[in-house]
Amino acid sequence: MIAILDFGSQYSELIARRIRETSVYSEVLSYRTSAAQLQQLNPKGIILSGGPSSVYAEHAPVCDPEIWQLGIPILGVCYGMQLMVQQLGGRVEQSERGEYGKAALHIDDPTDLLTNVENESIMWMSHGDSVTQLPPGFQVLAHTHNTPSAAIAEHERRLFGVQFHPEVVHSQGGLALIRNFVYHICECEPNWTTEAFVDEAIREVRARVGDKRVLLALSGGVDSSTLAFLLHRAIGDQLTCMFIDQGFMRKNEPERLVKLFKEQFHIEVEYVNARDRFLEKLQGVTDPEEKRKRIGHEFIRVFEAESTRLGPFDYLAQGTLYPDVIESADTNVDPKTGERVAVKIKSHHNVGGLPKNLQFKLVEPLRKLFKDEVRNVGRSLGLPEEIVRRHPFPGPGLAIRIIGEVTKERLKILRNADYIVRQEINQSGKYHDFWQAFAVLLPVRSVGVMGDQRTYAFPVVLRLVSSEDGMTADWSRAPYDLLEKISNRIVNEVKGVNRVVYDITSKPPGTIEWE
Ligand code: XMP
Repeated sequence: MIAILDFGSQYSELIARRIRETSVYSEVLSYRTSAAQLQQLNPKGIILSGGPSSVYAEHAPVCDPEIWQLGIPILGVCYGMQLMVQQLGGRVEQSERGEYGKAALHIDDPTDLLTNVENESIMWMSHGDSVTQLPPGFQVLAHTHNTPSAAIAEHERRLFGVQFHPEVVHSQGGLALIRNFVYHICECEPNWTTEAFVDEAIREVRARVGDKRVLLALSGGVDSSTLAFLLHRAIGDQLTCMFIDQGFMRKNEPERLVKLFKEQFHIEVEYVNARDRFLEKLQGVTDPEEKRKRIGHEFIRVFEAESTRLGPFDYLAQGTLYPDVIESADTNVDPKTGERVAVKIKSHHNVGGLPKNLQFKLVEPLRKLFKDEVRNVGRSLGLPEEIVRRHPFPGPGLAIRIIGEVTKERLKILRNADYIVRQEINQSGKYHDFWQAFAVLLPVRSVGVMGDQRTYAFPVVLRLVSSEDGMTADWSRAPYDLLEKISNRIVNEVKGVNRVVYDITSKPPGTIEWE
């Protein structure tokens, strides 16, 4: 295992992912983790992340100085390197010229950390401070035009530092450097593989659950589906999958999902039809947050009633992922004060988010995984690509894609329009070009003409976006003929719609969803 001490860098998670890509397990920990705690975790190596602070700032976050004596190899990245230098007797100062973006790395010592990294490789820099004096025992491994100490080492204690960010994709040879650190310097074995994870997770679930019953709320997304497969493999019929249909799913989705699980995967799904209940709760409600709140509350009510009816259950399975675990950890640092800032609040809680006081113990076998790792686990368990690579779909579903009040009639209109969008996107072979592709129904009407008749009907908005993680997004430059086809079909086939518009707003300033 490689431990990453997080000093508030936006890249800490990325470092962990890069290391895992080399089949070595890694975890992101708070920079406050003590040397004694680290010793207990027994990592093969430690990485100190970058961070927004300056090491000489008054409240700069620092690590336990005992870690230098642990005898474990350490790699400091950017702020992490500067901290290493400062704590071990060197000097860090504000540079006259900062270095942001690409820089060519001139290698002075092509061994160890820089084996197989080509001279003049382009590395990604982002720093205003620089090392101006090395601590005793350190030497320079590489420099750039503006940075004399771009990579440094103290070989005896196996302490290394790089001023650049090897974890970002723009850094050529970054992965080679990470591999050198992980395999040659820390001597890790490549044993973090999907198969090893699945075996271990199954063993753990069996040991934890014993012969007790587990309940899982299935949504049809990749996380809950992977969870269902994993648990079914681990405990068979002790698992009950429940699917609550709140009536806001896409056309044919609930039926398809239940059928797929039953017939192809041989996993029984308890289908709960709660459509009318949810619709009733949304009567007259137009405020987006109020909609989410009511859907969330109703979900919990239905969940409680149905779990009592089907139960009793000892365990509830949840698809918590590693980023959720990191987000709730004590790792965020205020760049100005160095103090921990309030843990990031996830902007969206799934409708499946349940209150803590429910009488279940939790099973969360995916809590160590990043999303791309969940996909690999799903695949290895036989989950079809259709689910593994499915676009994200919000918990409150179509209810937040109907602006204003949700009614049966509007649901029908949007469902039909959305169905056409999906059909055409699938047929175009471009499904994976988009992060999400969907329709939104607006509660206004505009004039149109069809045949000799004047129409006065709703417009539908097409929202096609590209994104890496949903945090930022760009509107997709979709081919005109695809847009034309979708528009024609919607206006011709969906009663109640006479106009289609295309949303060309990125996020920020827009959001992906309209509510
Ligand atoms: P926004 O609209 O904030 O969405 O740009 C970012 C991503 O989150 C999804 N989303 C939700 N997911 N419950 C969810 O489970 C919600 O209430 C919710 N609202 C937005 C959205 O589809 C996009 O992928």
